[in-house]
Amino acid sequence: MSKGFGKDFLWGAATSAYQVEGAAQEDGKGLSQQDVLSRQSPFGDTSMASDHYHRFREDVKLMQELGLKAYRFSISWPRIFPDGRGEPNPQGVKFYHELIDCLCECGITPIVTMYHYDLPWALVQEYGGWLDRRVCADFARYAAFLAREYGDKVKYFITVNEQNIIYRMWTRKNYIPEQLQHDEKLRWQMNHHYTMAHALACREVRQVRPEVKLGGVPAVEPAYPLTCSPADCMAAANANLMRNYFFIDPYMKGSYPVQGLSYLEDAGLLFQMEPGDEGLMKEGISDFLAVNYYRSVCARACDKKEIRQDQELNLYGVKGSQKVFETVPGMYALCKNPELKTTDWDWPMDPDGLVYALTDLYERYGKPMMIAENGLGARDVLTEDGAVHDAYRIEFLRDHLNALERAVDLGVDLFAYCTWSFLDLMSTSNGYAKRYGLIYVNREDKDLKDLARVKKDSFYWYQNVIASNGRER
Ligand code: BG6
Repeated sequence: MSKGFGKDFLWGAATSAYQVEGAAQEDGKGLSQQDVLSRQSPFGDTSMASDHYHRFREDVKLMQELGLKAYRFSISWPRIFPDGRGEPNPQGVKFYHELIDCLCECGITPIVTMYHYDLPWALVQEYGGWLDRRVCADFARYAAFLAREYGDKVKYFITVNEQNIIYRMWTRKNYIPEQLQHDEKLRWQMNHHYTMAHALACREVRQVRPEVKLGGVPAVEPAYPLTCSPADCMAAANANLMRNYFFIDPYMKGSYPVQGLSYLEDAGLLFQMEPGDEGLMKEGISDFLAVNYYRSVCARACDKKEIRQDQELNLYGVKGSQKVFETVPGMYALCKNPELKTTDWDWPMDPDGLVYALTDLYERYGKPMMIAENGLGARDVLTEDGAVHDAYRIEFLRDHLNALERAVDLGVDLFAYCTWSFLDLMSTSNGYAKRYGLIYVNREDKDLKDLARVKKDSFYWYQNVIASNGRER
């Protein structure tokens, strides 16, 4: 007999600022690096997105109708500090007060991400953004400001969204000048700046608001060996180490895994740490571990002579098109998992992987956990009856909730689940062709239409899940 979900379990949904807000240059907001980078993508334009900036009251009403207990959203750093630091922008500060107040009035717990890829462009121009260590102090100042300003209404703050994806897709999630894009050591150095930004932010926030709860959120993709050959099993272990633990250990243990450091040293990629970094990393140990889960990966052995391949080459893939798998010579090569079906965009669907990941991470770190993102990107269709019949999404989410319950029964201390996403938003890799929402937003990449909100079948399904505290699904 299952224990089920606790009575205070936070049933949630998530979004991020640049993917939903629009108003990219309104009311004093400064440009972000995503505003700039998105323009270079085939679909990109952050100026309207889902127009949440102007329609947030309508959106929160829909959240209330859905019965949400929590809403995870991100604050746009350049909306608060158009220049990255200095004087805050009063209209930006006011916008998030209004959003948070509106959520609280509806009994919805706000979960705030401080950074979801949208670095102020001014800091890129000033010193190269995340490539320069100065960004850590600027981020910590911004984080402390958020804690001071909103910390009496917000209990959960997430520092950085998906540091491991930021590393892996570094030219998509950061502005990196072309001449530096092949500098692997710099890439690890940049990653260390994120680690230190998280640690410094935790220290500063705790000084102003010791009562708030802090954590980072990696994207966790457990790696399975392609076969039971020892070499493939070692490759999977390497993939777990260098794709997951290397980024999570600093948040949860306050140190990098030693094997990972040894690998980087051997490969001539070891980044520079400054005196005091190790102590500071300990101050950044998180109160909880939030995890974004979409899929697992499969790994095979590969020798040092294979050619390095980056995952970011796959960004715009559609089903059947995945030709390039991440390959790190001498460590692991990812490959297709023949056991799993894939989404419209070739992402393997693996609810069991969620049990695997949650139990593994809970044993390793022993802190309360939250799923901060989990969902299905699909080509939804608005039918003539004005509905979106997304039975495939319901099936996907149901399978993952079944997995969650198994993990909880196995003892994982899980306090929140946020589906990605609350409403359709600009997918980071496929724009509005790939939809994640429980609510359809009536627009296409190039045709803004009327941006009307339409509740999908999955909205009504999730409403019932929440109302029954997860029993009916
Ligand atoms: C997560 C990000 O990696 O995955 C989201 O936090 C993103 O911002 C989501 O939208 C899905 O990825 P994509 O590329 O399909 O939008």
